[in-house]
Amino acid sequence: MSQSNVFILLVCIPLILSQSVRGKDCVCDLQYSDPDFPENKLDNVELTASQCTGNITSEKMTEIDRLVLGLQHRIWQLVDNVSMLEKEDNGNLYAAVSLRIIELELAEIQDLLDKLNKTTNNYKQLGVETAAELQVMEETMEELEKFDHTQVMVKQRENQRIRRDLERCKNVLNSTSPPPTLSPGHCGLGHLVNVSGPKTYSLTVYGTSYTFGAWGRDANPAPGDENKYWLVVLSSSNVFGNFIRQYSSLSTFILGIVPTDTYISSSNPTTNTIQGPNMIMYGNALYYNCYNIYSVCQFNLTTKTVSTVALPNDAGFNNKFPFGHLGTTYSYTDMDFVTDESGVYVIYATTSNFGNVVISKVETSNPPVLGQTWSTSLHKKTVTNTFMVCGVLYATRYLDQVTEEIFYAYDTKTNKERYDLRIKIKKMQANIKFMNYDPRDHLLYVFNDAYIVTYETKFERV
Ligand SMILES: *[C@@H]1O[C@H](CO)[C@@H](O)[C@H](O)[C@H]1NC(C)=O
Ligand SMILES: *[C@@H]1O[C@H](CO)[C@@H](O)[C@H](O)[C@H]1NC(C)=O
Ligand SMILES: *[C@@H]1O[C@H](CO)[C@@H](O)[C@H](O)[C@H]1NC(C)=O
Ligand SMILES: *[C@@H]1O[C@H](CO)[C@@H](O)[C@H](O)[C@H]1NC(C)=O
Ligand SMILES: *[C@@H]1O[C@H](CO)[C@@H](O)[C@H](O)[C@H]1NC(C)=O
Ligand SMILES: *[C@@H]1O[C@H](CO)[C@@H](O)[C@H](O)[C@H]1NC(C)=O
Repeated sequence: MSQSNVFILLVCIPLILSQSVRGKDCVCDLQYSDPDFPENKLDNVELTASQCTGNITSEKMTEIDRLVLGLQHRIWQLVDNVSMLEKEDNGNLYAAVSLRIIELELAEIQDLLDKLNKTTNNYKQLGVETAAELQVMEETMEELEKFDHTQVMVKQRENQRIRRDLERCKNVLNSTSPPPTLSPGHCGLGHLVNVSGPKTYSLTVYGTSYTFGAWGRDANPAPGDENKYWLVVLSSSNVFGNFIRQYSSLSTFILGIVPTDTYISSSNPTTNTIQGPNMIMYGNALYYNCYNIYSVCQFNLTTKTVSTVALPNDAGFNNKFPFGHLGTTYSYTDMDFVTDESGVYVIYATTSNFGNVVISKVETSNPPVLGQTWSTSLHKKTVTNTFMVCGVLYATRYLDQVTEEIFYAYDTKTNKERYDLRIKIKKMQANIKFMNYDPRDHLLYVFNDAYIVTYETKFERV
């Protein structure tokens, strides 16, 4: 296990605490005294976790073996990773990081338990018992978290509040009107009404200088790949990438351990390598803007081969129609690939549509082909990013350093567009460089400067 990777993760919290306010001469200088971390409580959580595992193993297996094994595997992994962290204990920082990882793991265990409970009555009793144990674990974690919060999270929030106060002159957030309704699109989720979070927030192992990248889970994974996470950081000039990094779980991702790297080419950049951050993974293939051309690249991670399909020849590339706000553009964001319940789309702009957004369905055959296309009146350079849910395109804009707003929607079913959405997203860093919706967990995956962040979405039916 790499100590330097862990160190990078550890330093992200103090960095936030000492952040200075841009353009002002106030620096938030926060006192930070070493707390005593109650390790015995953490030990108890671990013990309970391993007991739960023991009890589950002793039950007879049914058709839901796979789910139980998944749960078991998770708990083992949690115990392993926590004890490894304990060995590397370096005082107070250990507390914040390990709590975060355990929280994330518990959330995954909870998901597995929910599935377990739904699947069969045979396991009902066991499910209930395990849930009770989980409840106790969660309560202990909450207790530990309070401890953690007083030391770290509260200070972090204070810092954000100070920053917001100083930025108030710029603040034009004034809408308390209820979000307008949208036609529900293709898949019956209802209207997007709220985005809450961050749910998870972490620096990548590459550190703060790599501010363009993308990450997430495969929206249509092969069996066995469901829990994998992928990450591409644009390692050359913040524009170009030539390999995909994958992790077996969220905790290994956050710890930055045991990645698998798959190379598109050994050179960077070169023909058919990655240009710009807004790529996605679907069916074990990466979809992205090919280097230096107006084409869609499909990189098959199984065969390690690239297939391409060209966009219309007046489509923007090489910074012609990037995302941005005011005077700033997000370089090489001409093409934005998104996933929703129905597959893959590419969002771009063309000269014939006056630099306004065009949506094309990408059929994920080999080679890929462009499917149905929609032209919108949304000017691409005023948008910071887009994502799609149930055939409805949503676009965000920059309000200030801590707030992004989903203000626009285009329903590909009705061809109706609207500019009056007021759904706020709380940012941890100023610039959103990548955003995508995962139809499997309904989370938004965001690359927020050098940080990887997720948000929960809320939908309402009419
Ligand atoms: C495991 O099972 C034993 C015996 O049924 C029980 O006493 C114990 O509380 C269980 N432990 C957990 C963590 O569920
Ligand atoms: C975390 O758990 C996984 C799975 O058990 C293991 O592969 C990995 O080495 C563990 N990490 C540490 C630091 O022990
Ligand atoms: C399991 O599902 C039932 C309804 O199907 C619910 O009442 C119960 O609370 C669930 N139990 C757990 C532990 O989630
Ligand atoms: C904000 O709302 C208040 C009350 O509705 C109104 O008086 C004020 O002018 C608004 N400010 C801006 C900047 O729109
Ligand atoms: C939206 O989410 C935020 C943050 O969780 C919450 O404070 C707010 O009440 C929610 N609004 C609606 C309309 O659900
Ligand atoms: C990738 O290659 C594998 C093996 O040939 C194939 O089964 C799969 O369909 C390919 N994926 C795409 C998206 O073409």
